[in-house]
Amino acid sequence: MQVANRTLLVSGSSSGLGAACALRLLELGANVVGLDRSEPGDWLMRRISAEGCTNDNLQARYWHGQADVTDEASVQRVVMQGIERFGEFSGAVCCAGILHGQRILPRDGIASLDAFRKVIDVNLIGTFNVVRYAAESIARGEPQAPDGERGVVVMTSSIAAFDGQVGQCAYSASKGAIAAMTLPMAREFAKLGIRVVSIAPGVFETPMMQAASQKVREPLLEASVFPRRFGDSEEFAAMVQCVLENAMLNGAVLRLDGALRM
Ligand SMILES: NC(=O)c1ccc[n+]([C@@H]2O[C@H](COP(=O)([O-])OP(=O)(O)OC[C@H]3O[C@@H](n4cnc5c(N)ncnc54)[C@H](O)[C@@H]3O)[C@@H](O)[C@H]2O)c1
Repeated sequence: MQVANRTLLVSGSSSGLGAACALRLLELGANVVGLDRSEPGDWLMRRISAEGCTNDNLQARYWHGQADVTDEASVQRVVMQGIERFGEFSGAVCCAGILHGQRILPRDGIASLDAFRKVIDVNLIGTFNVVRYAAESIARGEPQAPDGERGVVVMTSSIAAFDGQVGQCAYSASKGAIAAMTLPMAREFAKLGIRVVSIAPGVFETPMMQAASQKVREPLLEASVFPRRFGDSEEFAAMVQCVLENAMLNGAVLRLDGALRM
């Protein structure tokens, strides 16, 4: 799919990997509906303005919809408002997610079930919620030659899906489930001409990782193979572009981790 003049939904668009994807898609000439529980920061709006597409501009190609991915009604509302503004969607890039670590048996007690549920709720159920409303819209679009492709769904898993560390039960379970639902989604959506791919990033330098302590960051950096650094959000956005443009990528979970094994 060439994304110019298409409309794509990006969840988690106000920060990190999602923000980089939103900017990349705008640069490629797409309309972008950003969905996040937080407003985009000033730095992001400045970058978007530099692309000539602010919310106030009649030619705007970016619109931000505030929603919690776990909330059915607000995700549906943002999708509907995006359609009113730009027409049916051709794709969704799901980046909204949270990182949370807890041991099952910490020194002073036992793991919180609420904390476990919250991670599953946001990362897994939130992703599924966004995909289902986006896919409903993509399915209404016109198939494009030569393969009859209507659109593409990209989800964000993690290498923690395969390689979870101590304390990552909830996070690994949520990301493992995203990896696991990639193929059944691709199979179900095949007749609609919708591809589904998940990307499993290693460690990327985003506000999520910047919030992690040195005790967490240093061993990860030491374990990196090549290149010996954390990934850049632009490299994730470039991968998303590749997935959107390459019609043979479907039903796959792609590691993007510089060979890091945690
Ligand atoms: N950064 C990494 O090293 C890394 C590695 C593997 C996977 N990931 C995954 O990539 C995705 C993006 O992570 P990031 O590093 O850009 O993090 P980030 O914290 O910089 O951005 C996440 C965005 O998601 C939004 N969000 C969180 N919960 C939400 C909710 N309930 N509803 C709506 N929006 C919500 C936040 O407001 C934020 O804008 C996440 O799913 C994360 O698990 C990140």
